[in-house]
Amino acid sequence: MKIKIVKSLNQKTKKDYLVLPFLFEKKEPKALFNISKFKKYISGPISSKDFSGKSKEMSLVYAPLSQDKRIILLGLGEMDKMDEFQIAESYAEIVKFVKSKKGSSINILIPEKLNLAKEDLIKGIVEGLYLSNYSFDKFRHFTKKDLPSSIKDVCLIGLETKDMAIVKKGEVIADGVNLTRDLVNNNADDETPQHLAKVAEDFSKISTKIKVTVFDKKRIEKENMGLLLAVNKGSDKDPVFIIVEYKGNPSSKDTSVIVGKGITYDTGGLSLKPSTSMDTMKSDMSGGAAVLGAMYAIANLDLKVNVTCIVPATENAIGPKSYKPGDVYVNMANKSVEVKNTDAEGRLILAEGLSYAAMKIKPSRIIDLASLTGACVVALGEDVAAVFSNRKELAEAFIEASKRTGDHLWQMPLYQKYKEQLKSDIADLKNIGSGREAGTITAALFLQEFVDDIPWVHIDIAGPAFLSKPKGLHPTQASGMGVRLLTYFFENLAEKQKI
Ligand code: BES
Ligand code: ZN
Repeated sequence: MKIKIVKSLNQKTKKDYLVLPFLFEKKEPKALFNISKFKKYISGPISSKDFSGKSKEMSLVYAPLSQDKRIILLGLGEMDKMDEFQIAESYAEIVKFVKSKKGSSINILIPEKLNLAKEDLIKGIVEGLYLSNYSFDKFRHFTKKDLPSSIKDVCLIGLETKDMAIVKKGEVIADGVNLTRDLVNNNADDETPQHLAKVAEDFSKISTKIKVTVFDKKRIEKENMGLLLAVNKGSDKDPVFIIVEYKGNPSSKDTSVIVGKGITYDTGGLSLKPSTSMDTMKSDMSGGAAVLGAMYAIANLDLKVNVTCIVPATENAIGPKSYKPGDVYVNMANKSVEVKNTDAEGRLILAEGLSYAAMKIKPSRIIDLASLTGACVVALGEDVAAVFSNRKELAEAFIEASKRTGDHLWQMPLYQKYKEQLKSDIADLKNIGSGREAGTITAALFLQEFVDDIPWVHIDIAGPAFLSKPKGLHPTQASGMGVRLLTYFFENLAEKQKI
């Protein structure tokens, strides 16, 4: 999709549709533009009360004499509920509608008189357009023609040339999300640990502020990352440990580490998953893909922050060499873990990522994202991810960032008493709790064992990372959950550190 901008209505070029924005105010539609040119087109839907301006409401008007043959009246809802996310979702509805009608070009009149920062408004529109225009169709050979086409051209009317910088920002962030979506949607046999490493290595082309290091199996052995090696044993592909360093603020000592779970396929290992739970498990590297997508956006936006991204990656496959329930493996921090269930593998590889961060980088904060537990999907469903933190302010900063993105979060407790459940008869820890209850919490408590007391946030994205049906800005399957959340968190952090 190409997005252009023009200053005024007179400069607009012909498109399939023109979109006019309205608020819902005092139970009536309120035009957010000068209506003089459009009176004859908008009076019908308004006087008939067919259109009220409520959020995501649309009315289609045919305008045979106007340049664009069709006009859509778009409701943005109530002013006091307006934010960047609301804007993004509203314009996503436009894309979905126009696509379904096989249209390919849209003129959008930028809403005026909206009580919203211009940057939030433009970014909301641009992200809404790009994210909802995504489709993963590379495997549709004969059936692609049955899909709604995608939008090719959009013109935003009413912006200054300098606003193009904001459009570009929105574009970069959406590209980061779409990169993550592609990585997750791809076949697991193509999206191997080696391929993830290659994607990360290519990041060094983005900016001289980026340094990429990939540990191969030999180096992973040298680092004593026994838990990553254990999970890898059943696979015919070597594990990798990806490190992407971005130094956007070299004069500052403040640095963050973002760790993402990179299980490129989760069979469950010898504690084999039932087939109905396995068929979505190409998505088990969603956390890894999200931290990579976020790095892409952060570096391209040239944010003034120091961030290192870590992705321990391997398949959790099954075979004669598979690691075995009941055996004990030792991590790089010398903690021993009795593996009671080989399907609780995400926490094992994350333990190496967290230990590496805590021991070798000693950052100001660690953030991890992982499709960690089925229990999280049971508790919070596909709309909401669980957030845990050993610092109140850090959890709050993430919850704040999530409001702008629609990557909804709900805080769960690091309830220390449940740590009892992780006691092993023969090792320092075991990798599962005692039963099914509080499975998301016991997984988080396991991770906490590896972060020392560094400020840390854990986000279990098992539900929202991979969708069983389309939702708002997102199509079915990979949503790219976490990319915008992390990007906005770091944008806020850069802003705070300016002061
Ligand atoms: N990859 C799964 C978690 C998952 C489940 C993600 C459903 C997305 C949707 C993880 O590796 C796993 O299998 N966890 C086990 C842990 C259990 C054995 C303690 C689970 O949730 O069943
Ligand atoms: Zn598993």
